[in-house]
Parts: sequence; structure tokens; C-alpha cells
Amino acid sequence: MTTVDGELFGRLYASWYDRWHDGKDYAAEVSQLSQIMSREARVDRVLDLGCGTGQHLELLAEAGHTVLGVDRSPVMVQQARARLARYRGRASVLHGDLLDVQPDEPFDAVLMMYSVLGYQVDNEALLGALAVVHRAVRPAGLFLFDVLDAIPLLRRRPRDDVGIVDDLDHQLLRATSCTLLAGEQAYEFAVRLWLLRGGRLVEHAEERHRVRFFLRRELELLLAISGFRLLGAAPLAGSTRGPNRLVWARRI
Ligand SMILES: C[S@@+](CC[C@H](N)C(=O)[O-])C[C@H]1O[C@@H](n2cnc3c(N)ncnc32)[C@H](O)[C@@H]1O
Repeated sequence: MTTVDGELFGRLYASWYDRWHDGKDYAAEVSQLSQIMSREARVDRVLDLGCGTGQHLELLAEAGHTVLGVDRSPVMVQQARARLARYRGRASVLHGDLLDVQPDEPFDAVLMMYSVLGYQVDNEALLGALAVVHRAVRPAGLFLFDVLDAIPLLRRRPRDDVGIVDDLDHQLLRATSCTLLAGEQAYEFAVRLWLLRGGRLVEHAEERHRVRFFLRRELELLLAISGFRLLGAAPLAGSTRGPNRLVWARRI
């Protein structure tokens, strides 16, 4: 039995991530991204920062793009590499912190999906991430990302939640408790996971995630001082009633 504290997207969390997010409509999200990309720019090469298990990358590679993912969780990277193995030559995944990314060649579009920008909670990390994106995308290229919008988030505060996911041999129990850190413009969720086999506890892990939320004018300003022009924002496809907004911007 292991308890990992401090590490985010650790082994137990990351290895059950896809099963846990079974209801997330990645196909709808990629279709929304593709429509925006084809309208706004010529996009071949796409970089996905905080790519997780590579679900967006797989659909983009399938659609013919050359893709690179970066993630700091080794187990997320392992799964993304396995998922993309059949696109060898035009899909790869690097393990590391997105703040250290220094691409050899610029990309036509950079993505940060599912609150990856919001995981860069303090101003220094946030501006650092935006500077990385600016270096990574070509002039007039696109930056597309989703964030938690402050207004719906504060209206309907995140709720505590419990649930179970099964596979043939195991059950994973998850309990999430949320705390709003209004002064820090973030919310924190503590996740506790218990993995059972045959009714016996075999692994336990706890993680504490902190995610920043944003207002539109704040984003506009952050993008402008980082060398981007905000082009648009819309509810993220597949989660239109939630607080997730897709935002897209052009590198000036
Ligand atoms: C909520 S998950 C989203 C994964 C994926 N983009 C998706 O939509 O399913 C956030 C991911 O961002 C990664 N991440 C957060 N901050 C990061 C950083 N500074 N550098 C690299 N990866 C980061 C985490 O490891 C995790 O895999």
C-alpha cells in the first residue's frame, strides 16, 4: 500500500485517469479545436503542453497533424506514448515541465487543455507558461486553451464528490473535497483514492490539486502582455453547462 503526498497525477491517479474521465467528450473538443484552427490559420504542427494521456493528440494525429506532447507526470507520459505509438514519425511525447520547453522549430498551434494553464497558479508560473507558448508558436500562429471561468464557477461552487470505477479485477473508490480559495483566485480539491482487489485494500493515494480560475478581461490582459491577441472564447464543447471555457488567441 502506498500513499503519495505532494506528487500530482501520481501513479494511481494517472493510471486510472482515462477510466475516470470516461464521460469527457474529447472528440467534441477536438472537433471544436479543428474548426477554429482551420478558420484562423494554416495548422500542421501542434504542440500540446500538459498533454496527459494524449487523448487530444491522438485525434489530431488521426486527422493528419504532426504532434508533440509534453507532460511532467511520468505515468501520463507512458500512457500517451502507448496511445500514439502507431503514429511514429509524426507524434511524440516528452517528459518534463512545460516551463522548460525549448522547441527546435516553432509550432503552428499550441494547446493547453483541461485547465493546464490554471495549474500554473501563481503569477510567476502563469507568465512563465505564456512566455513558453510565445516562444513555441510561430508568428501569427494560434494558442488554444481551456480555463475555469470565474463567473459560473463562483455561482455554482465546485461540489464534493464520491464515486467508484471498476475494471475486471479492481475497484477504485475516489472521494474529492473542494475548497474555494477566493483570495487566491483558485480552488483546491483534495482527492483520496483507494484501490481494492477482491474487497481488500491494495493501494491508497492522496493528492491536493490547486487550479486558478480566470475572468475574461484578465485573460485578455495576460495574453496582451505576453504577445497574443485574444480572438475568441466559447463554452468548451461537450461541457457547455460547466465553467470550462475554450479561449483562442493569435501570436502577435
Ligand atoms: C487535468 S490534466 C489534463 C490532461 C490533458 N490535457 C487532458 O485534457 O486530458 C493536467 C495535466 O497537466 C500536466 N501539467 C500540469 N502542470 C504542468 C507543468 N508545469 N508541466 C508539465 N505538465 C504539467 C499534469 O501532469 C496533467 O497531466
